[in-house]
Amino acid sequence: MILNFGSINIDHVYRVPHMPAPGETLAVTSYERFLGGKGANQSIAIARAGGEVRHIGAVGADGSWALERLDEAGVATDHIARADAATGHAIITVDDAGENQILICGGANQGLAEDNVRSNLDNGDPASDWVLLQNETNLSGKIVTSARARGYRIAYSAAPFVAEQAIPLLGSIDLLVVNAIEARALAGHLDVEANALPVEQVLVTHGGEGARLHMGSDVIDQPSFEVAPVDTTGAGDTFLGSFLALYSSGSSAEDAMRYAAAASAIQVTRPGAADAIPGRSEVSAFLEGQDM
Ligand code: RIB
Repeated sequence: MILNFGSINIDHVYRVPHMPAPGETLAVTSYERFLGGKGANQSIAIARAGGEVRHIGAVGADGSWALERLDEAGVATDHIARADAATGHAIITVDDAGENQILICGGANQGLAEDNVRSNLDNGDPASDWVLLQNETNLSGKIVTSARARGYRIAYSAAPFVAEQAIPLLGSIDLLVVNAIEARALAGHLDVEANALPVEQVLVTHGGEGARLHMGSDVIDQPSFEVAPVDTTGAGDTFLGSFLALYSSGSSAEDAMRYAAAASAIQVTRPGAADAIPGRSEVSAFLEGQDM
């Protein structure tokens, strides 16, 4: 089981011919509403990859449909609180190359309650469960400290990246997930090389180029599969959730990386974040057609 303490967002996605410049007014070519939030995307990726995941978070009164989507995907939602605040949301612009810019507004994601965190950690099984978290909810420090004290393995996606928030957690986690820019920024703050961050396992995503997993002194490189991207929103979340689903249930790191690369390659060919994440049979069929 993966206990995912994570955000749930309503993604407002605007397709634009190009990213607006400061001061520019730009007409969008389309608008759609999707389920998103790094936490929710990762939970859905875990579930669609066949993993068992409980999502611990919060939505407002406007978030019932988001819970239904998570439920439909097979995510356990019984510990998602109903907060007295609007569900978190994101304003996302996506250009013709599928690149995005994202503004997030935390809303209910910032209302995670300490007793919800505590009871979930008390009722889990540190011998087999992983704890997963990102930077889009409150209480990240508390979640890591309490999970560590109980002996859970902890995966931490340091996004959105704030060095001051990430650095104090590094000594207590097992798997750090960052993109290449964040890895360099962290390394700069810590005055170490980017490939020498002080966590046993570090997964660095390199966008369209692939991902690299550092496991102690071992390195596993996973190139991206070549596809024509339509929307890259949530690709990193898809990679992490898919990887963790397989890795935490006994697959080798190499197999988990390959699966994750395939899942995110498929995900970027469709619009939206959570809704675009493929299931296991689609990923397996994709992988059978590949020669790498
Ligand atoms: O990583 C992509 C996600 O970031 C989006 O779904 C958006 O909600 C923001 O949290």
